[in-house]
Amino acid sequence: RANMLLLLLLVVGAAALEVGSQGLEWAKIGFEYRTTRCFVHYEYRDGAWNDGREVKEPYLPVHVGATALHYGQSLFEGLKAFATPDNKVKLFRPYANAHRMQRGAERTLMACPPPELFVSACARTVRANLDYVPPYGSGGALYVRPLLFGSGPRIGLQPADAYDFAVIATPVGEYYGGGGGVEPVRARIVDADRAAPRGVGNVKLAGNYAPDLQPNLASKKLGYPISLYLDAKSRTYVEEFSTSNFLAIKDAEYITPDSNAVLPSITNDSLMKLAEKKGLTSRRRPVRLDELADFDEVAACGTAVVVTPIASISLDDRVIAEFPTHPVSTALFTELTDIQRGEAPDPFSWMEDV
Ligand code: PLP
Ligand code: COI
Repeated sequence: RANMLLLLLLVVGAAALEVGSQGLEWAKIGFEYRTTRCFVHYEYRDGAWNDGREVKEPYLPVHVGATALHYGQSLFEGLKAFATPDNKVKLFRPYANAHRMQRGAERTLMACPPPELFVSACARTVRANLDYVPPYGSGGALYVRPLLFGSGPRIGLQPADAYDFAVIATPVGEYYGGGGGVEPVRARIVDADRAAPRGVGNVKLAGNYAPDLQPNLASKKLGYPISLYLDAKSRTYVEEFSTSNFLAIKDAEYITPDSNAVLPSITNDSLMKLAEKKGLTSRRRPVRLDELADFDEVAACGTAVVVTPIASISLDDRVIAEFPTHPVSTALFTELTDIQRGEAPDPFSWMEDV
C-alpha cells in the first residue's frame, strides 16, 4: 500500500507542469496567438454560471443565432501573468480587469461573471498552462484573454438570455518587436474616429476594434506602427491609440487625456500611481492637438504595449511633434515591469498568486 502511494505521488509529480517547460524561443515569440494546453469555458444558463471546464481543442460550439455574432454582444479583457524569481506565477491586477468587464456588461446588458469567478477563471487558466508561462528572465509573459459573449439566439434586437465566458492564454513577448522593449515608434493620427462622445469607447467591446483594422493597417503600410485617435466631435483633442492609452510628460507632470470616449487603462492608472510616488504630479485633463509639440515625452501604455515611447506624431504625413528622448517614461516602464516580474516590492499589492 505504501508503495502504491509512493508510485501515485511520483506519477502526480511527473505530471505537474513546470513553468516554461515548453521551451519556446521566448525572446522571439512576439505578440502572436499560439495554441496552448487548454482554455477554460463557463456557461451562463437559466440565470446561473456553471463551474466551468478545461477544454483542450481551441474551439467553442456557437449557436448560429448568437447575439455576439449578430448584434455584437461581445466583450474581452487582456492581462498578463508573470514568472517571478521565487518560482511563483502571478497575475497583474486581475480584479481591475474583472470590474472593467462588469462595466462593459452593464452597458451592453450582458450577464457577467462576478469578480471572484473572473479572477479564479484567470488563475485556473494560468495554472493549466504553466508550461507556456515564459520563464523568469525571458522578458515574456503569459497573456490572458478573458472573453464574454451573448451565446443565446435572438432575431429581434434584444440581449441574449445565455452567455459564455472563456479564458484563453498565450505566451507573448513584445508587441512592437525591436528587442529592447522600449524602442520608440512613429505614430500617425488617423483620418477616422474610434469612439463617439456618448458612445462605448470606455468599455472593451469587441466592436470597438473592427473599425480600427483598416486605418491601423493603412498606418502600418505608411511606416507608422501605431495609430492615434482624436476626439470624434471636434478633432482638436487627443484621445488614445488603437490599443493603448496616451500619456505625456511635461516638466514634472504626467498628463493623460480626460475623455469619456477613452478606455480606462489599468496600465495607465498604475503608471499614474508610480509617477506620484516618485514625486511627479499626475493629471487627467483634455489634451489639445496643438499642444503636442510642447510635451517633453509621449508614450503609449497598455497591457500589450506596456510603455512604448513615441518618437514622433504625424498628421497628414507631416511630422507635427517629435520626442527625441524618454527618460521619465522609460523609468516608469522599468518600475512597473520590476514590480510585475517580482524584482521590486509591490507597494500597491497589485500582484495576485495563481
Ligand atoms: N486602450 C485601448 C483601446 C485598449 O485596447 C487597451 C488594451 O487593453 C488599452 C487602452 C490599455 O488598457 P490596459 O492598460 O488595461 O491594458
Ligand atoms: C491589451 O493590451 O491587452 C489589449 O487588449 C490590446 C489588444 C487589442 C492587443
